Amino acid sequence: MTNQYLTFSDNDKMPTLGLGTWKSKPGDVFGSVISAVKSGYRHIDCASIYGNEKEIGKALQQLFADSVVDRDELWITSKLWCDSFAPEDIEPAIQQTLADLQLEYLDLYLMHWPIPLKKGHGMRSADDFMDPVAQPFTLTWQAMSFLKEKGLAKHLGVSNFTEKKLKRLIEETNLKPEVNQVEIHPYLQQTSLVSFCHDNGIHLTAYSPLGSGDRPDPLKQSDEPILLENKVIIEIAESLSVTPAQVILAWINQLGISAIPKSINNERQVENLNATRVLLSRSQLQAMSELDLGRRYITGEFWVKDQGYYTLGDIWD
Ligand code: A2P
Repeated sequence: MTNQYLTFSDNDKMPTLGLGTWKSKPGDVFGSVISAVKSGYRHIDCASIYGNEKEIGKALQQLFADSVVDRDELWITSKLWCDSFAPEDIEPAIQQTLADLQLEYLDLYLMHWPIPLKKGHGMRSADDFMDPVAQPFTLTWQAMSFLKEKGLAKHLGVSNFTEKKLKRLIEETNLKPEVNQVEIHPYLQQTSLVSFCHDNGIHLTAYSPLGSGDRPDPLKQSDEPILLENKVIIEIAESLSVTPAQVILAWINQLGISAIPKSINNERQVENLNATRVLLSRSQLQAMSELDLGRRYITGEFWVKDQGYYTLGDIWD
């Protein structure tokens, strides 16, 4: 069965297929959001660190003004950037995102990474980071809960959390995230994390579902396999007369996981949205499950600094 929505405890429904906006450059993202929503997208994934929320806000305003959709028909996600993890910095951060997006509330607000940075700092050296013992992500998560009480975000979640960190978060705060947004695709299936989330009523959103081929070069490894060129995926696509991207997105959908493929091209946007209608057989699902390489495209190496707080092992513990 295909899944069109993931349903929350209050019966709110998040469309499984959303539009990713990371890497959509200023100048591109306006048209990308307009064409996606006009083509039927109802879920847009944003983040303040992507640097394009103002332009997305202009696109949303135009869509509302032209009566293409109403606000309550859209699911808008954004994310709290790591330099605003101190409790007093959280509300100003979401208010900035809401002002940029020209919205009164978000459907979902996520803690972007479990890593605190100093206010206003980039992530160039160890000196840009806050001590994670003095500023634990549990404290940020606890403080985020008032955003729901104030009506600024309808749902709250996290991103880039491992099973170990989710357990710590729940144990220490007694507040369960509603969503964990992580990298998931056939080369990084994260089956244990997926089971843990599903067993605990935490929805998952897959980022970089198509292998994030347009990442900036410094975020790429020279030996990395190209997901969309995988032979098994191409064979399944040919047998179903669909595209490799559709096979991947259909597989994620059938696992009960939402996905946010990024595309600024309307033809590919439509292709990706239509993947929610593609149904893989049991043997095709089995063949997909055998492709796991435990391979991250977003390695998190940018968090690892000389004399810093984190190793890759800490980030993906
Ligand atoms: P474009 O934006 O030009 O369509 P991810 O979502 O994993 O980050 O992948 C995004 C990359 O995949 C972008 O380079 C995007 O290019 C490309 N892409 C998106 N949809 C498809 C598709 N259906 N087929 C092939 N490439 C796609």
